[in-house]
Amino acid sequence: MEKRFGGLKHILRAQDFSRKWIEEVLFPKTDEMEARTLKGDRGQPLFGKEMISLFAGESLRTRASFNIAMKRLGGEITFETEDVRKFSSMAKGESLEDTIITLNEYGADVIVLRYDEEGGAERAAAVSDIPIINAGDGGGQHPTQALLDLYVIQKHLNRIDGISIAMIGDLEKGRTVHSLAYLFGKFDGVKIYFVSPDNLKIKPDIKEYLNRHNVRFFETKDVREVASKVDVFYQTRTQTNLGTKPFDRADEKNGFTVINKQILDLAKKDSIILHPLPCTDEIVRSEVDPDRRAVYIKTKGDRMSQVKGGIYIRMAILWLLLF
Ligand code: CP
Repeated sequence: MEKRFGGLKHILRAQDFSRKWIEEVLFPKTDEMEARTLKGDRGQPLFGKEMISLFAGESLRTRASFNIAMKRLGGEITFETEDVRKFSSMAKGESLEDTIITLNEYGADVIVLRYDEEGGAERAAAVSDIPIINAGDGGGQHPTQALLDLYVIQKHLNRIDGISIAMIGDLEKGRTVHSLAYLFGKFDGVKIYFVSPDNLKIKPDIKEYLNRHNVRFFETKDVREVASKVDVFYQTRTQTNLGTKPFDRADEKNGFTVINKQILDLAKKDSIILHPLPCTDEIVRSEVDPDRRAVYIKTKGDRMSQVKGGIYIRMAILWLLLF
């Protein structure tokens, strides 16, 4: 199992994956998962395998897609909660570590954990004999989201090397941005434009990592400045659940970080617009959703949406971990 997962036991941080594993193992397996889903293949390669799903933090996509992926491959979800702090003995003061050790004792093959504090997945992994999948840890990382984002970029642009991307919004706490930025350190010639108000800039440790890995990046407050230059818009929401105060996305002084028709008019014809979702007011949906370049939720024809990519990537991850 560890070998097929690029030497990793747990999935904790995006920077732990190798480019070779992403391109030669994960993406081909993800293509296979798409093909078997479209064919309606009901085989049960993960029959007898058990997954525990622990979420301490709101989720639709990550929780649902991991559960659906596991069931679609014939595995079982033997214990799950959408609020582990409320619906387990953590409500009585039990530590995350004791929760994970106890569930290890009961036996399962993998634990999918969303935690509301940065470092939660690493704390869990430190006491777990079975793999921990970090399904988002506070303002830290969301590595499986970044893998699906990268997969969808590859699908649409047919390349990752040399792309230009605008990563927009609450970059300080946006964990999907953190993980995706780390992944770009594995590729050549990627140019990143970080677009945020001054108080929500990307963290210094990520900038240091990008410098070390020769990824060129620039910072600005106005997405209009870079709209005509990028192949990918990666829009993100304001992380109000992690304490960021809502702000005006179209403020000329604080920063222009909304995607609307004005941005579509500036953007390249073959660019794509991504968003890990959920989306609130940072995309003017009535203007952007009908555009072919919007691929975050539902696409026209057979173009892959980010949402669909999420299920295929998570099927591939579970297969590679458990089969
Ligand atoms: N993209 C993402 O993590 O969505 P959820 O919070 O709904 O899981």
